[in-house]
Amino acid sequence: MKIIEVNDYQQMSTTAAEYIIEKVVQNPSIKLGLATGSTPIGTYQRLIEDHRKNGTSYQKVTTFNLDEYIGLAGDNQNSYRYFMDHQLFNYIDINNAKTNIPSGMAADLQEECNHYEDLLTKHSGIDLQILGIGSNGHIGFNEPGTSFASKTHIVELASSTIQANARFFNRIEDVPTQAITMGISTILKSKEILLLVSGEEKGEALFRLVNGEIHESFPASVLKNHPCVTIIADKAAIAKQRVYC
Ligand code: PGA
Repeated sequence: MKIIEVNDYQQMSTTAAEYIIEKVVQNPSIKLGLATGSTPIGTYQRLIEDHRKNGTSYQKVTTFNLDEYIGLAGDNQNSYRYFMDHQLFNYIDINNAKTNIPSGMAADLQEECNHYEDLLTKHSGIDLQILGIGSNGHIGFNEPGTSFASKTHIVELASSTIQANARFFNRIEDVPTQAITMGISTILKSKEILLLVSGEEKGEALFRLVNGEIHESFPASVLKNHPCVTIIADKAAIAKQRVYC
């Protein structure tokens, strides 16, 4: 794993966006794995700015999102489909038909998981996966204890995740308790992974990732088994390393 240290969230976002743009320019048909949450919002804003200013095109790009809440339709403002449309897709020239997010409204959710996994296989996998990390080490919605062999599956969200995500909802009771997520083996099949980490509250997770053992109790630790992971972390997240190393 390579770690790029940056000053703050803004610089993390700019650095990540430049990294992604370079890959898109090199390979206009790139398959990108995308993440939601607070962490990548600044990166997506930079991609939009660049698209407007420099005309970087996403017409041939295919995207696969990591996860989606079960029970929220795409027009629900807390769904990840809505997030992606409003944080990125509506503002670049991407072909909507090439943006893939699991459906949390599918009549047969297990079938939806199988379909998503098949779709990824059919596209020969993701070239560059953008990831955030949960304070409990989750990647996608793969909570602690998830098998490293897992494929796209249905998860029960950890209470810490529900609490962390409650900030986006009016009431904590409104946060879905289940989601569909790419599995850990699905994520690991990506050719390259870019992990974004910002803020003091992610310091402990970053410390465990870098210094801890590889174990299913801390899902992100599996990234150490991947040959091509770049972490862009800001000083606030890295500070913890300095204290302990
Ligand atoms: P966050 O979430 O970007 O909102 O902190 C990251 C994650 O839970 O994977």
